Amino acid sequence: MNVRVLLLGDIIGAPGKALVQKHIPELKKIYSPQAIIVNGENCAGDGRGITPKAMRFFKHAGVNLVTSGNHIFQKKDIYPYLTEHKDLLRPLNFPSGCPGIGVTTFEVDGVPVGVINVQGRVFMRELVGCPFRAVESVLTYLQHKTKIIIIDMHAEATSEKLGIAFYFDGKVSAVVGTHTHVQTADERILPGGTAYITDLGMSGALNSMIGMKKDAVIRNMLTQMPVKFEVETEGTMIMTGVIIDINSETGKATHIERIKVIDTDLKFDHINHADFGDK
Ligand SMILES: [Fe+2]
Ligand SMILES: [Fe+2]
Repeated sequence: MNVRVLLLGDIIGAPGKALVQKHIPELKKIYSPQAIIVNGENCAGDGRGITPKAMRFFKHAGVNLVTSGNHIFQKKDIYPYLTEHKDLLRPLNFPSGCPGIGVTTFEVDGVPVGVINVQGRVFMRELVGCPFRAVESVLTYLQHKTKIIIIDMHAEATSEKLGIAFYFDGKVSAVVGTHTHVQTADERILPGGTAYITDLGMSGALNSMIGMKKDAVIRNMLTQMPVKFEVETEGTMIMTGVIIDINSETGKATHIERIKVIDTDLKFDHINHADFGDK
């Protein structure tokens, strides 16, 4: 059978969560995905990190698994959640003393889906372990459990993401990039059968920089002085990701398709006040 997965890039603050709430039901109707995976490292109200409340929000929205990246440890109240739950991943190659796991499986109609979250090292501040060797170290374990294996490669450099994809082509079902918050147009199935996109993009304000108000980011670039980045909450919003079909017998991808939702009329003030919202 084919397993269809919807993957969304980094969800940014309140606008990102509002996009999830508004558009996932619609995407479910159009594409009928059997599983939904989102990157939640920027979904807290200030765009940094993730909270247990946000996890409850995602679960309520029908998300099966949340991946993350360099911002995962920004909110301290997520630490116990990372230790106690298996539906939120932190990059596998962080030091082993960090809370959380970087690899897991969940079931879709009785079929296990394996997911690995790993972080790149090129142009990234954190001194994490080699992403190639980190993935390699868990691959045999995961291959014993399932043929369907998806990697969220959280990295800045396109070369490093493509490197992971080619190195594991044919050994995993999909490699999707996150972290740059800009969707790339290079989605394809590699020669060995691995679906690939350099970056899924984000859910947040279109006329922003990485979902943040652009003026502050530009001021930082102009002056090199510290500035406070704030989530952009005005204007047109964008939500991007991919749909991937994976053959559960072979583990090979059979289809990858980019998703881009533009929303010019998003109401999200209620998100911060709702039970699932957070600061
Ligand atoms: Fe991010
Ligand atoms: Fe990131």
